[in-house]
Amino acid sequence: MCRFVCLCVLALCLVLNGRAFAADLPPAATAKVDFQTDILPLLENHCVRCHNAEKQKSDLRMDSREFLLKGGSEGPSVVVGNSAESMMIAQVTGTNPDFDQMPPKEGPLSAEQIGLLRAWIDQGLEWPADIVPQAKGGDEETAPGKAPGLPEDWRVEATHQQGALAQGALAADLKGPNGEPAITLTPPAPPVAEAINLLWTPNAKFLNGSIEVKTKVIGGTAEQGGGLIWRVKDKNNYYFASYNPASKKFSLGKVVEGEIVELGSADFEAPAGEWVTLRIEQQGPQYAGHLNEQKLVEGSDADLQEAGGAGYCAKGDAATAFAATKLNAQS
Ligand code: HEC
Repeated sequence: MCRFVCLCVLALCLVLNGRAFAADLPPAATAKVDFQTDILPLLENHCVRCHNAEKQKSDLRMDSREFLLKGGSEGPSVVVGNSAESMMIAQVTGTNPDFDQMPPKEGPLSAEQIGLLRAWIDQGLEWPADIVPQAKGGDEETAPGKAPGLPEDWRVEATHQQGALAQGALAADLKGPNGEPAITLTPPAPPVAEAINLLWTPNAKFLNGSIEVKTKVIGGTAEQGGGLIWRVKDKNNYYFASYNPASKKFSLGKVVEGEIVELGSADFEAPAGEWVTLRIEQQGPQYAGHLNEQKLVEGSDADLQEAGGAGYCAKGDAATAFAATKLNAQS
């Protein structure tokens, strides 16, 4: 009898626990989920770099539906049709006390992102067989950083990064020359001399047009200043234009597969400590770079001919402020 009662109590506890657990989860999205637009970017940007063919944290691969269903060391990660009972959701919500919350290091997913994953599972885990997610944002150690105060899609990365990432943020105590909000990009401590620190958004979709920004030195000895990056494919492929007041040099170039190639440069002297206006123009292969309304560099390059992201760069130990950005993209 006692044994029976105990079992009943135990069963009841389990049921109640299960309920409490489900109620704490962010709600599933109500709209029909589309794998390619809603789920794929999530997996690629936040999960697959640690759960793929080469790297299988906790024995889990997330680069196909079959692998996800097979699961990891604890068995299947997904119960199709039941997100509240799926380990994957317990991991991203941090409701499984035995395992770290996913993704580790970069910080939790938003409630909206979790809602999409839940709806995807509840709606049957649609996954077109020919789509294989690719790890984005580098490997585990070089995941992009967040940029406090800026929209979600802005990220901090570095070309030739070693160690910690720079900080990119909306400045609390600094304004642009006309009182505009300013953004700062400051190096990690210790700074990495060869690193080009980047603060950018893939959503700019910039192909042709112009981008203008006002920049100002806020720190740096070996390097100072910084500039713009555009047609950014990833942290190893983009165009850049930057001004270094320390060496009084303006430089425009490209980074292709991590290799830096200067396309043009010019001497330029701007009054120390003042905001400098940097502008680039791009039309097909034609580029031009201006400082304070003076065209300093122009030419043609056939390499990066696809629309890409845009943002800011600062090299090595340079700490730089950016304000009054005007992006004028032509379709
Ligand atoms: C930086 C690397 C990294 C990223 C990114 C990452 N994971 Fe993990 N994952 C791990 C590690 C490490 C463990 C083991 C955690 C532990 O033992 O506490 C794990 C374990 C898991 C498990 C448990 C598998 C099992 O059965 O053992 C699931 C499910 C999971 N991750 C899902 C995800 C999801 C979903 C994402 C994306 C939102 C994600 N992970 C992103 C490193 C990562």
